[in-house]
Amino acid sequence: MSDLPEHVRRNRALWDDWARHYVAPGEESWSADEPRWGIWGVPESEIGILPENLVGTDAIELGCGTAYVSAWLARRGARVVGIDNSERQLATARRLQKQYGLYFPLLHGNAEAVPYPDQSFDFAISEYGACLWADPQRWVPEAARLLRPGGQLVFLTNSFLLTLCIPAEDGIAATDRLLRAAFGVHRVEWPGDPAVEFHLSHGDWLRLLRRSGFDIDDLVEVRPTADATTRYPFVTLEWARQWPCEEVWKARRRA
Ligand SMILES: C[S@@+](CC[C@H](N)C(=O)[O-])C[C@H]1O[C@@H](n2cnc3c(N)ncnc32)[C@H](O)[C@@H]1O
Repeated sequence: MSDLPEHVRRNRALWDDWARHYVAPGEESWSADEPRWGIWGVPESEIGILPENLVGTDAIELGCGTAYVSAWLARRGARVVGIDNSERQLATARRLQKQYGLYFPLLHGNAEAVPYPDQSFDFAISEYGACLWADPQRWVPEAARLLRPGGQLVFLTNSFLLTLCIPAEDGIAATDRLLRAAFGVHRVEWPGDPAVEFHLSHGDWLRLLRRSGFDIDDLVEVRPTADATTRYPFVTLEWARQWPCEEVWKARRRA
């Protein structure tokens, strides 16, 4: 524990506390046949986040939380491993594994330093996990190390534009004004909130991914349908129908 970087220690305490709010959503997502992504629950058939064929592939979820994404991968035939920084989140994941009789390894640890050998996986994914709460300068090169040549990395997180438009006060939705500078954004701490988040500009993601050994396949800007709902207060549907509030990066490990 004391070896962990300061942001990982802080986020661990926070997520152990927040885990209780993620039990019911985790249960709902485990029960879903079709994956639904992000805060608006965009169906997989619309957004196409997963590779078409996962059968027999080795996959890892970086910051798996209650591990419903891992469960979706396992049901599609992947040999999946989930890693998460919060033991409480993993406790929910373990209970749901038992309930569904669907077992795969769940590791308690930091996605910036995963205890697996180089080139262990074909597919790595993070939905608001390591891609938001771990340091990109650490977890992206780590994902590159873990993936085999040609392996795919997919992550979904807040859009950079949303990060610039969210008021610092908790519970208030993004406005149509840029509230902070775009240059130099990396580690983000909101006032009165112990969490440490990480956000990068598109140029910074692109250069980091390329420097770490990835080619970029796609950047999908998520647009919810006109009747979508969310339980999160930081963005309205009106906003998210006009500007992307979430983005999905797809990158491939260079041979
Ligand atoms: C929002 S949840 C993501 C899981 C799920 N997809 C969801 O959206 O509910 C964020 C998760 O990232 C985990 N996390 C934060 N920092 C991490 C790190 N450095 N390594 C691994 N997991 C981390 C947290 O413990 C938490 O369970």
